[in-house]
Amino acid sequence: MTSATQQPARVLVLGANGQLARNTTRVLLQQSNAQLTLYLRRASRLENPDPSRVRVVEGDVLDTAALRSAMQGQDLVSANLAGDMARQARSIIDAMHETGVKRLIFISSMGVYGEVPGEAYRSVLNPYRDSAAVIEASDLDYTILRPGWFDQTPAVDYQITHKGEPFRGHDVSLNSLSDLILKLVTTPGLHVRESLGVSRG
Ligand SMILES: NC(=O)c1ccc[n+]([C@@H]2O[C@H](COP(=O)([O-])OP(=O)(O)OC[C@H]3O[C@@H](n4cnc5c(N)ncnc54)[C@H](OP(=O)(O)O)[C@@H]3O)[C@@H](O)[C@H]2O)c1
Repeated sequence: MTSATQQPARVLVLGANGQLARNTTRVLLQQSNAQLTLYLRRASRLENPDPSRVRVVEGDVLDTAALRSAMQGQDLVSANLAGDMARQARSIIDAMHETGVKRLIFISSMGVYGEVPGEAYRSVLNPYRDSAAVIEASDLDYTILRPGWFDQTPAVDYQITHKGEPFRGHDVSLNSLSDLILKLVTTPGLHVRESLGVSRG
C-alpha cells in the first residue's frame, strides 16, 4: 500500500455496486491515484467509471477461487458487504492468505459489541458481530469500521470511537465514511488491527 506520492495503491473493492462502495469509488478516483478492481455480482449493472484506473470483475465473495484470482497483486481489500457476513469474512481471509494480501478494511455496523448506549440490536446484528469476531481472530492487518446510520448529507464531518469505548452519535454521511476509507487507503499503517465506531462529529 502506498501514498499519493508513491506507487498508486491497488485496491480490491468487494460488493462494488453497494451504496457505500459506489460513493467510495467516486471519492478514491477523485482524491487519490489508487487503481481499483471493482468486484461484484452481475457486473453488467456497473459502468466502468474510468477504464484507465478501474477494472470491473464479476464474482461472488463466497466463490473463494474467483476472489483469489481477483485478489492477485492487490495491496488492500475493501469489503462493503451484506448478508452472510461471517461466511464472507472467512472466504476473504482464505483468499488473502492464499495471495499474501494483508490489509483489509471491513464495513460492519455500530452496536456489534453492545457499545451503543441504550440500544441492544440483538440478532439483527449477528452477521456483523460474527464477521467482526472472525476478522479479529485472524492475523490480517484489518480495520473494522462500525458506522452509524448512513445519510446523504454532503459534508465530511465525523468522530471516531475505539473498541471498548461507548459509541457516540447516531448518523454519519456516506462522504464521511468514504473520506475515512480514503485515508486508510493512502496512509500505510493507519488504524491497523483496530475496530472504529464512526459517527457525525
Ligand atoms: N445503511 C446504513 O445506515 C448502515 C449503517 C451501518 C452499517 N451499514 C452496513 O454497511 C454495509 C454497507 O452498506 P451499503 O448501504 O453500502 O449496503 P448495500 O448497498 O446493501 O451493499 C452491500 C453489497 O454487498 C453485496 N454482496 C452481498 N453478498 C455478496 C456476495 N456474496 N458477493 C459479492 N457481493 C455481495 C451486494 O451485492 P448485490 O447488489 O449483488 O446484492 C451489495 O451490493 C452493509 O453491511 C450495511 O448493513 C449500513
